[in-house]
Amino acid sequence: MKIKKKILILGSTGSIGASALNVIKRYRDTIDIICLSTNRNYKKLLVQSKVFNVKNLIINDYNNFIKAKKLLKNRKIRLYSNVTEFLKENNKKIDLVVIGISGLDGLKPTLEVIPITKIVASANKESIICGWKFINNKLKKYKTNFIPIDSEHFSIWSLLNNDRHLISKIYLTASGGPLLNTHQDNLKKIKVNSVIKHPNWRMGKKISTDSASMMNKVFEVIEAVKIFNLDAKKVKIIVHPRSIIHAIIVFNNGLIKVLMHNTTMEIPLFNIIFKNNNLKYYNKTDINFDKLNGVNFIEPDNKKFPYLNILKKNKFKNTYYEIILVTLNDKLVNLFLKNKISFIKMQKLLLKLIGSNTLKKYYKKQPKNIKDIFIMVDKVKKHLNEYEKFF
Ligand SMILES: NC(=O)c1ccc[n+]([C@@H]2O[C@H](COP(=O)([O-])OP(=O)(O)OC[C@H]3O[C@@H](n4cnc5c(N)ncnc54)[C@H](OP(=O)(O)O)[C@@H]3O)[C@@H](O)[C@H]2O)c1
Repeated sequence: MKIKKKILILGSTGSIGASALNVIKRYRDTIDIICLSTNRNYKKLLVQSKVFNVKNLIINDYNNFIKAKKLLKNRKIRLYSNVTEFLKENNKKIDLVVIGISGLDGLKPTLEVIPITKIVASANKESIICGWKFINNKLKKYKTNFIPIDSEHFSIWSLLNNDRHLISKIYLTASGGPLLNTHQDNLKKIKVNSVIKHPNWRMGKKISTDSASMMNKVFEVIEAVKIFNLDAKKVKIIVHPRSIIHAIIVFNNGLIKVLMHNTTMEIPLFNIIFKNNNLKYYNKTDINFDKLNGVNFIEPDNKKFPYLNILKKNKFKNTYYEIILVTLNDKLVNLFLKNKISFIKMQKLLLKLIGSNTLKKYYKKQPKNIKDIFIMVDKVKKHLNEYEKFF
């Protein structure tokens, strides 16, 4: 009998988690899902556990954990209220952990699972941007491999062999989002619905807003700098509206490598989950030349997308800067999505606050542990709450 791969999916009720389960569905007999997790959506989690025959479930939100516990009284499913509790009873080495948790709340679980898995595959940008130093140290300590899920970083990871030292430049492609062709004057009145309507990808509201403002690309540059240990000057953004090419690497030996795939997160996830399984991706994999003919690339417009200026001066050396940036953006996007501030105001406020002396004093300091990261998050939130009174 063939041994099944043992995997754990954190954030299985979200978009990344659902895509991971969707690719597993076709080849269920090759995978043993040992645990799934959610924050609040226990109803979806229970359906997933039934479909995929999963015996361990984590529900982070305590009220929903209690509700699910009542429902599950007589079943043979083990329910845990967080990753720490799950790991107390399940610490045998597994093959892969997929991290699809959103926000900085993904950092602690990421660090916790490193010792019990051969590979950690993470889509959780916020944790990579703010806590990479701690993640990387632990990966080294436990000899655990890391694979990025985000399509651009997965592409870079796929293209690199033993030629990292030859990298001259990396281009991360950007679709330009829904506002690429919107005139600057019309941005003042742009509504939430238009901002979250991404032309090529189906994603949640937060990440779609980040795509529209190009903060998502800023984050992706920072992620690439950290994951691949690159000089920030070597990572560039190029607008490529059709989003079929995800990354381009220019090497010092004259070679240029490009990775293309259709715009679905299932493809990176399929290749990660079934790495070395030699299975076939089930959709049409032939090239669509109609999509490729006339593919165009455009230099990004820093005036229209002012967040791109953030990339000009910074080196992203694991100081508090990244933590402050992620927290401010998180809060301000939230205010925009609740219609409390306009899209333009959101951008103006972020750039004003990130340049303020109150926060600037932290940009040369580094957090010593993850507790320091969360202390800073609270400080920034408090600072913004004070500021909010004047909106
Ligand atoms: N979606 C994409 O195509 C895409 C592409 C690249 C990178 N990413 C990154 O991948 C991450 C996940 O994105 P997503 O779009 O899949 O997000 P999502 O749809 O909002 O799903 C997030 C998942 O994490 C769970 N979760 C949220 N807060 C949690 C907490 N405090 N503790 C434990 N679990 C928690 C959610 O549970 P509930 O269901 O209860 O909310 C859900 O299962 C983000 O960092 C995003 O930037 C996403």
